[in-house]
Amino acid sequence: MSSKVECEVEETPLGKFLTPPQGYYIRAPKGLVGVIPDKTNISGVDPKGTSTIYRGYTIDDIGEHADFYEGAHLILYGHLPNESEYKEIKSKIDKYRGEIPEKVFDALRYVPTTHPMYYASYAVSLMGQYYAPEWKFEEDFLYDHALRLIAAMPVFLTAGWHLARHGTFYRPDSSLPHGKDVLRMIIGRMPSDLEARAFESTLVLYMDHGFNASTFTVRVVASTLSDIYSAIAAGIGALKGPLHGGANEKSMAMFLEAQEKAKAKGLELKDYIEEYIKERLANKQLIMGFGHRVYKVHDPRTDVAGKFIRQLKDGEDWLQVLKKSEEVMKKEKNLPANIDLYTGVLYYQLGIPIPMYTPIFAIGRVVGWSAHYIEQVLNNKIIRPTEDYVGPSGLKYAPISERK
Ligand SMILES: CC(C)(COP(=O)(O)OP(=O)(O)OC[C@H]1O[C@@H](n2cnc3c(N)ncnc32)[C@H](O)[C@@H]1OP(=O)(O)O)[C@@H](O)C(=O)NCCC(=O)NCCS
Repeated sequence: MSSKVECEVEETPLGKFLTPPQGYYIRAPKGLVGVIPDKTNISGVDPKGTSTIYRGYTIDDIGEHADFYEGAHLILYGHLPNESEYKEIKSKIDKYRGEIPEKVFDALRYVPTTHPMYYASYAVSLMGQYYAPEWKFEEDFLYDHALRLIAAMPVFLTAGWHLARHGTFYRPDSSLPHGKDVLRMIIGRMPSDLEARAFESTLVLYMDHGFNASTFTVRVVASTLSDIYSAIAAGIGALKGPLHGGANEKSMAMFLEAQEKAKAKGLELKDYIEEYIKERLANKQLIMGFGHRVYKVHDPRTDVAGKFIRQLKDGEDWLQVLKKSEEVMKKEKNLPANIDLYTGVLYYQLGIPIPMYTPIFAIGRVVGWSAHYIEQVLNNKIIRPTEDYVGPSGLKYAPISERK
């Protein structure tokens, strides 16, 4: 008898999808590389493989042109807002930014000066306790909580950061646009319009990115029919890791270390970065801000961020360093830069403290997390794969005195 199993084959722009017959397991590759666990309408790789699609638009088009409210409306509701929809989402986000329960701030007064991503998940869970003890799966209710979280996340992230360091924090100003107000609360001064626009554009670029690790985490928690606060607190934990959102901090830390070394040798960073990267590679160290599970050739988000970097402080110098780094990595490893290399530099130009870089990623990505939470719970199947147990079996319990 033949042991060959016939799978159903579906041709798609991404490639061939295989569905095995019932009763067969699928042995997924490590890291779930190439595995497609579900469909989504929110975002995904452009079939040409050169960009990501946000609800029909390319990510770079939206990142360059849409403001925060437009980007959030597109990701959450599936289309760019008309004028009345724009007014509505703007007024809700601006209002909710000012409506954080005072007790959340009280609790944040006691956080130590650890990494702000720790208290992000803590504050999100805390908000769940105030807002959502009775969770419902009604659309209006879900969207309202999504908007509350989108509005609130930057407020307590910045409050926690400042409270832990100097005991006070900047209250939100609901009369300012979201991006500008968030940047003001982080840097403690009113940003220029250009700075606010550059910052806001990175939030839009970060809003969503298919089934990345943190979004998939959010969907797993959502699939248990837990509430949005619990799901997003889990997503924050996944985003914190240096292989995911943490890379924008690590890449800037790398440039600053290289700058110190260059200075000691009397060189400019752009003339030293090649040696620095090669040295790291020779020591088998990762070059943070390079490589991507999806973009194997080019990350289009870097083009948008690069346009803003050029216009900000020391822009031309930074672009030379970035381009040189990309040249070296292309030659040595054939790996493209990813958005984190560029946002690291852009946030540095804006005077943002490095430990706030990953929280800023979360301030953008909370939009996508919320959309994925809602998409998952409204068409749910619990995500529960099967393991391939390869440990021992047949052992019997023995009292401790009999164990070697
Ligand atoms: C993003 C990342 C996790 C993607 O991982 P992945 O899809 O599993 O890619 P792979 O690990 O298969 O990479 C292929 C090869 O390139 C190497 N590589 C990948 N990224 C590298 C980097 N940033 N620096 C040096 N080498 C790298 C890998 O070690 C691997 O080499 P090998 O074949 O000799 O083992 C990975 O590129 C990485 O760790 N990058 C640095 C962190 C980062 O910038 N993350 C932000 C992502 S937006």
